[in-house]
Amino acid sequence: MNKLSERARIIRLEQTTSTMDETRALALSGAAHGTVVIAERQTKGRGRLGRDFFSPKGSGLYMSIVLKPDELFHDEHSSGSSNTAITAFAGLCVCEAIQKVFNIDAKIKWVNDVLVNDKKVCGILTEALVNQTGVFAFILGIGVNVFAPPEGFPDEIKNRAGAVCPGESHGDTDKIVLRDKLAAEIINQVLHAPVPGEAELFARYRQKLSMLGKNITVTQGGESFNAVALDIDGEGRLIVRKDNGELEALLHGDVSVRI
Ligand code: BTN
Repeated sequence: MNKLSERARIIRLEQTTSTMDETRALALSGAAHGTVVIAERQTKGRGRLGRDFFSPKGSGLYMSIVLKPDELFHDEHSSGSSNTAITAFAGLCVCEAIQKVFNIDAKIKWVNDVLVNDKKVCGILTEALVNQTGVFAFILGIGVNVFAPPEGFPDEIKNRAGAVCPGESHGDTDKIVLRDKLAAEIINQVLHAPVPGEAELFARYRQKLSMLGKNITVTQGGESFNAVALDIDGEGRLIVRKDNGELEALLHGDVSVRI
C-alpha cells in the first residue's frame, strides 16, 4: 500500500459476508474513527436499495470505514452530518484517488456511483449508526471494480458495469500492488482531505457529474419518468425538468442517461 494515514487501523479479511456488517459490529463495540475493514471477497456484498454488490475475489476493492461525525467534520464550515454529504464527499475522494493512482478522469453519476468511460466502476454506500443522542458513527462502504472480474460481470449488470483498468488481474503482483495503492489513496483522502462546507462540497460534486444537461430517466419506487438533468442544489438534490415542464428536486432515486 501507499504510505497510510496514521489515523487508519486496517483489518484485512480473506472473505466475509459484507464489510458493512464487520465494520458495523466493530463500531457498535467502540471502534475508533478510521477503523477500516477490507475483504478480498464478499459473499453478500450489498448496495443501495437492498441490491447485491458483485464482489468476486482478485479483481475488486471492497472496504468499509468507521467515521465519527465529530472527527470528520473539523469545523463549523464543514458539511452537516448527512449520509448525502458523506456519500458525495466519498465520491470526490474516489475520483481524486483514481486520478492520482491511474491518471484517469473518473466522473460521478448521481447519487453514489463513480464512472469511467460511462461504466460504473465504483459504488458507495453510507449507513448511519444512531443512539439516543443522534448519529454516533457512519459506516462508509466503498466497492471498486479495479480490474475485470475473471468470470465477467453477471448478466444483470454487464451493460452498465466496468473496471477502472482494462483486463483481468490474473493475480499479478504488480496489479495487486496497484489495487492496494488505490485503497491507501482512498483511505488517506477520506481521513485527511478537509470536508468542505455543503456549498463548496456540492459545487465540487457538480463539476464531476456526468449527466448535467442530458436526457435522463428517473426511477423512484417502481415508477419512472423522463426528464432533463439541470443542476445540483446546495443540499445535493438533483434538479430536473420533467417533460411537462415542471421542475423537481430529487433527494433519491435511480437515474439513467437516455441515448
Ligand atoms: C451501490 O452501488 O449501491 C453501493 C455499493 C457499495 C459496495 C460496497 S463494497 C464494500 C462495502 N460492503 C458492502 O457490502 N457494500 C459496500
